[in-house]
Amino acid sequence: MQFPTTRMRRMRRTETLRGLVRETELSPGRLIQPAFVVAGEGVREEIESMPGIERFSISELVAEATEIAAAGVAAILLFGVPASKDETGSGAYDEEGVVQMAVRALKEAHPELTVITDVCLCEYTSHGHCGFVRDGEVDNDLTLELLAKTAISHAEAGADAVAPSDMMDGRVGTIRHQLDEEGHARTPIVAYSAKYASAFYGPFRDAASSTPEFGDRRGYQMDPANAAEAVREAQLDLDEGADMLMVKPAIPYLDVVRRVKEETGAPLAAYHVSGEYSMLKAAAANGWIDERPAVLETLTSIRRAGADAIVTYYAKEAAEWLR
Ligand code: PBG
Repeated sequence: MQFPTTRMRRMRRTETLRGLVRETELSPGRLIQPAFVVAGEGVREEIESMPGIERFSISELVAEATEIAAAGVAAILLFGVPASKDETGSGAYDEEGVVQMAVRALKEAHPELTVITDVCLCEYTSHGHCGFVRDGEVDNDLTLELLAKTAISHAEAGADAVAPSDMMDGRVGTIRHQLDEEGHARTPIVAYSAKYASAFYGPFRDAASSTPEFGDRRGYQMDPANAAEAVREAQLDLDEGADMLMVKPAIPYLDVVRRVKEETGAPLAAYHVSGEYSMLKAAAANGWIDERPAVLETLTSIRRAGADAIVTYYAKEAAEWLR
């Protein structure tokens, strides 16, 4: 039946009618707030390239988590910025490391807030790469042990899930196996399966001081031109025991979000990364876009593409808007 019998506008006439047929729902329970934790006392440091995002020392982070939880945000994703870095990134698996201590403090103060930890070495290594460097290259297999140690130390501290973001081959399997051996069979792995070598991580690297000292990450992160490869990565992670997958960044890779969801059917997150956040903030600050509807439209598009959950620096703000 064609026009004039069919009129698509009929169901768009009122907000109630539109609401009845809305295909995609965006709610705070789908959002994950990334947070940077630093050593020290009473520290709140603004990140110049990420307006509205700060690095927190532990007590400040616990205070911030009160607001995040009150907004209904599902979870917090923790990144550590240690006081000192070394060749092997030992701060990453230190029982008294910033993330381990922050997890204990958060779980004690807010048992209801889910705490996920980023498992990677780049914030902890002096060279800024995501693994153990040998002869000028990141050595995959030597890195696996360090990642597993990191994940176990997070689980022991009480993390509700661990999220490896390093892109080494075999890391999900190694982490799963060692978590199980150490009595953490219940701890899920959220795998950054398709993490691209993206130009949109710039502000994050300022925030975490994790810019590689030499070279770049293209030897382990994915080529932005590839999508079929993302499906293979996702499949491998599932075979190795991943509980949830992730695609990162989000907006330039919505086709990948869709393909990974359709081809695996697995729980999927998308990471709306620092550069994506900063672009919206900058345009809004200049009055070039209306921030709130632009952000909600952006986040809705990520859900519509097929993501179950969204990691975004806008989580707390968006959750407050959605209430
Ligand atoms: C570390 C890591 C990065 C991000 C998340 N985990 C940086 C990188 O790979 O350089 C980027 C997140 C963002 O830009 O918001 N492995």
